[in-house]
Amino acid sequence: MKTRIVEVGKDTGNPEHYREAAEILQSGGTVAFPTETVYGLGADATDPEAVEAIYAAKGRPADNPLIVHVDSKEMALRYAKDVPADAIRCMDAFWPGPLTLVLQAKEGAFPENVTAGLPTVGLRMPDHPIARNLLKQTGRPIAAPSANLSGKPSPTAAGHVLHDLDGKIPLILDGGPSILGLESTVLDMTAVPPVILRPGSTTAEMLEEVIGKVRVSGEGKRNVPRSPGVKYTHYAPDAPVYLIEDKSKLVSLAIDHLHTKGKKVAVLSETPPEAADYSFPLSPDMLYTSLRMCDETDTDLILVAITEAHAKDAALMNRLEKAADHKWFS
Ligand code: TXA
Ligand code: MG
Repeated sequence: MKTRIVEVGKDTGNPEHYREAAEILQSGGTVAFPTETVYGLGADATDPEAVEAIYAAKGRPADNPLIVHVDSKEMALRYAKDVPADAIRCMDAFWPGPLTLVLQAKEGAFPENVTAGLPTVGLRMPDHPIARNLLKQTGRPIAAPSANLSGKPSPTAAGHVLHDLDGKIPLILDGGPSILGLESTVLDMTAVPPVILRPGSTTAEMLEEVIGKVRVSGEGKRNVPRSPGVKYTHYAPDAPVYLIEDKSKLVSLAIDHLHTKGKKVAVLSETPPEAADYSFPLSPDMLYTSLRMCDETDTDLILVAITEAHAKDAALMNRLEKAADHKWFS
């Protein structure tokens, strides 16, 4: 299959940009498109074969459910049931935006492969003109995980999608780099109090201002992971990743030590250390780009230098700890 790229650019209101994409989605195909968080790989969420094509292109495990994107609160309410008042408050306060709400799905609303057989569904209204125009023109809920190969860093540019899925999907809508760069907050509204299953730009503090107490997943004991995706390898570049405190000479000592062992070192940091063989920026919007840049080098190891400010950013640290498989350099 040939993968085509449609450059939408700044003229996001032009329906011509979406005609082919909407036709592909309506006839059971997949299309990659930008959102404010990361690029998604979309398919009609009501069509089991279309959804299957997403899993096939990404190589995604079948027990990891997909987020369904909607064009409005009204569309969300057509597919969810027993919606708590606090979920409506969240929709009013944070939609469109980087917040996915896990709600009870109406019986038969979605095929099993969207929800991975769970009685719940994750719904989100994205805050990106291209995603919203595509949803409007398609007129259907769109299932869309991040448009990367399973296990790799999420794509924050059309080029990342092409790198991972060239020849596996028919079309990419190119809307330039993603503004936020980390995936949406996933909030389970079926629990009391609601539980943050994945931290994102919509923080616990922001949520608590609107709905009161929320819990963060991992606090307290549970037998089954409520967000199945959480247990898989994520955001992993080719070389092993180690976290290290960005303090005094710690990073340069680590680099010197690795050099004595003949290893090449790539560093992700706020200020590039002189001794690094390769050095890339570290910030929420640049994280996935920087991890992907490491794959373009012959580095043996990746150090990520964590400042005190980084350590306080729950969304960033969640992705970094997964990328590093919780390894700290010592
Ligand atoms: O920002 C985002 O959320 C991006 C853009 C494209 O919208 N999408 C995204 O999708 O990150 P994905 O598939 O890469 O991550 C979905 C996460 C997974 O951790 C999955 O387990 C969880 O949401 N999830 C989806 N449905 C769920 C459900 N019913 N219950 C619990 N967790 C769910
Ligand atoms: Mg993903």
